Amino acid sequence: MVKAVVLGAAGGIGQPLSLLLKACPLVDDLALYDVVNTPGVAADLSHISSVAKITGYLPKDDGLKLALTGADVVVIPAGIPRKPGMTRDDLFKVNAGIVKGLVESIAEFAPKAFILVISNPVNSTVPIAAEVLKAAGVFDPKRLFGVTTLDVVRAETFTQEYSGVKNAADATVPVIGGHSGETIVPLFSKVSPSFQIPADRYDALVNRVQFGGDEVVKAKDGAGSATLSMAFAGFRFAEAVIKASKGEKGIVEPTFVYLPGVAGGDDIAKATGLDFFSTPVELGPNGAEKAINILDGVTEQEKKLLEACIKGLQGNIEKGVEFAKNSP
Ligand code: NAD
Ligand code: LMR
Repeated sequence: MVKAVVLGAAGGIGQPLSLLLKACPLVDDLALYDVVNTPGVAADLSHISSVAKITGYLPKDDGLKLALTGADVVVIPAGIPRKPGMTRDDLFKVNAGIVKGLVESIAEFAPKAFILVISNPVNSTVPIAAEVLKAAGVFDPKRLFGVTTLDVVRAETFTQEYSGVKNAADATVPVIGGHSGETIVPLFSKVSPSFQIPADRYDALVNRVQFGGDEVVKAKDGAGSATLSMAFAGFRFAEAVIKASKGEKGIVEPTFVYLPGVAGGDDIAKATGLDFFSTPVELGPNGAEKAINILDGVTEQEKKLLEACIKGLQGNIEKGVEFAKNSP
């Protein structure tokens, strides 16, 4: 039996993500929580003829506790999205507190759940979540993930004309680092099956993967950021975690994890000087089984991208840790 919970389920990501989870035969029980509108979203989805039993909760009447109790997987897309001209870091002021509060409740009511953080800035909200779980004495680094799958999905899509695959997801295009601008590092030298990016297209493609989010924010013109592609990516990652938890082998996805707590992570921590980093992770019954180091043999261009990434990530991570330690 798998119980999945979406926190922020009535939002732009939350609704289509909940739809995909409701349609997924691996999910038996789906609980939707938001500060508004979840009864309506849950009633609507409940008419879909699929396996999952669905419930909707609001903060009143212990809604968060009821949603979280018995959860195996909790996905968090709660929080405000960007408007044109904003960075993801500009969201910190509001979203840091939202994530902190929600993770405090997860620590209390679903301490063993896999936690998938979508809320931005991911580079800081995941360190916040880790600190909250540590303070509650329930931190299992193998069970906490920053969802960076949208960067991978974008990289697969934007390189499709070179990979030549019919379905963009059939190419593996690793994207590592963090989830904002220069901290997003696509490693085109490590694609599989191998293909070449023409030299005169390299910079533009890297830039498009790094700033793909801005493309959507600009096009939506004040109405928010990526929601549908994020729901696709969030579902892909949640499904991978669920399948691996049920024993499926060989599932690897890049995700932002606490390196010292995941097998193989120490090498990456040593190479980058960072505690948190997105890297391909082999998933298993207990979550992140192994962090795979793909830093060896990167090109000179990729080394430069990694330098900028590490510099940016360091500050984002520290900001999250500080906030969690110092806010009441
Ligand atoms: P949205 O405003 O459409 O939805 C957010 C939802 O969160 C709203 O329904 C709101 O009521 C709810 N919410 C606010 N506070 C809450 C709380 N304390 N508990 C529960 N729910 C709460 O925004 P969106 O477009 O769905 O984006 C959500 C977040 O996801 C943003 O921070 C955005 O930047 C981020 N995002 C991340 C990625 C990624 O790749 N990781 C991609 C896209 C968007
Ligand atoms: C994205 O990459 O689309 C998200 O992080 C949302 C954003 O603010 O760009």
